[in-house]
Amino acid sequence: MTQSNVFDTEILTAIEQQLDHLLTRPAQPAAAGLERIYAAMRYSALAGGKRLRPYLTVLAADLFDVPRSQSIRAGSAIELIHCYSLIHDDLPAMDDSDLRRGRATSHIEFDDATAVLAGDALLTEAFAVLADAATHPVPEVRTILVSQLAMAAGPMGMVGGQMMDIMAETGMAAAEDIALIQSLKTGALIAVSCRFGAYLAQAGQPETDALQRFAADIGLAFQITDDLLDVSGSAAQTGKPTGQDAMNSKPTFVDLLGETGAREKAATLIEDAKQALAVFSPRQEPLARIADFILSRQS
Ligand code: IPE
Ligand code: IPE
Ligand code: MG
Ligand code: MG
Ligand code: MG
Repeated sequence: MTQSNVFDTEILTAIEQQLDHLLTRPAQPAAAGLERIYAAMRYSALAGGKRLRPYLTVLAADLFDVPRSQSIRAGSAIELIHCYSLIHDDLPAMDDSDLRRGRATSHIEFDDATAVLAGDALLTEAFAVLADAATHPVPEVRTILVSQLAMAAGPMGMVGGQMMDIMAETGMAAAEDIALIQSLKTGALIAVSCRFGAYLAQAGQPETDALQRFAADIGLAFQITDDLLDVSGSAAQTGKPTGQDAMNSKPTFVDLLGETGAREKAATLIEDAKQALAVFSPRQEPLARIADFILSRQS
């Protein structure tokens, strides 16, 4: 299953245009440093990538007929955070990767300091986007988006998971430890991407909870397939180096369960995820297709 068979081109194009717009440098003042920071932000954020997180926000928001202009903006803010996390994840101090999305990583193309700052800039810009009235007319909704994304990205979310991931490198971890690492480093951003649909719509708790259950399952499955591609995929397919997890002694479900066991676990999670969408029947089909894509993806 390739992305182009599954993802709606119209939505993907709108996300790309939104990101390009958000990362356009104000004309004044002219300064080489400002030119460089925008160049580095654009280099990493407009360099391809599946755009899974904003895509999930749009599909989740579509369940409630939220205007696309709102969901594309809100989802793009999450993508900015995701792009920052990739730049920092690739740094020599972390995974030390030289390839991302099929091209040189930020610190190779620019330098370490520029890569750190480009990540910082994408991170902060994300919250400016959410706080802007163009994202949603209701201030309380914007506050929820800001605080929920902050929690998903911060020490009890992605950053906390990355810290655990680094510390787990040297020792063998139990299944619960691996599940916690994955749910924080990858799952938290995927989950908030889905819940954003409910927040934008000011939907009720049952709908928000159903999206959270769906997202928790696809988020874990997504990291399992990432780890499987690290073992059995190729850099040509994934646009990033393979064999990194073994080289860095990362504890993963592939490590714990073997390739077949990990594939079975991902398949079970995807079935559970689709069950969680029952409350939205018959409008759940586009989200269910993304769940299937996550299981069979090659990139
Ligand atoms: C890679 O995420 C990092 C993980 C959280 C596993 P993606 O596989 O979504 O990367 P892009 O955005 O498509 O490059
Ligand atoms: C990192 O996981 C997830 C992030 C928070 C960026 P990985 O280290 O496995 O991601 P890849 O394989 O480099 O994309
Ligand atoms: Mg990593
Ligand atoms: Mg990495
Ligand atoms: Mg990986």
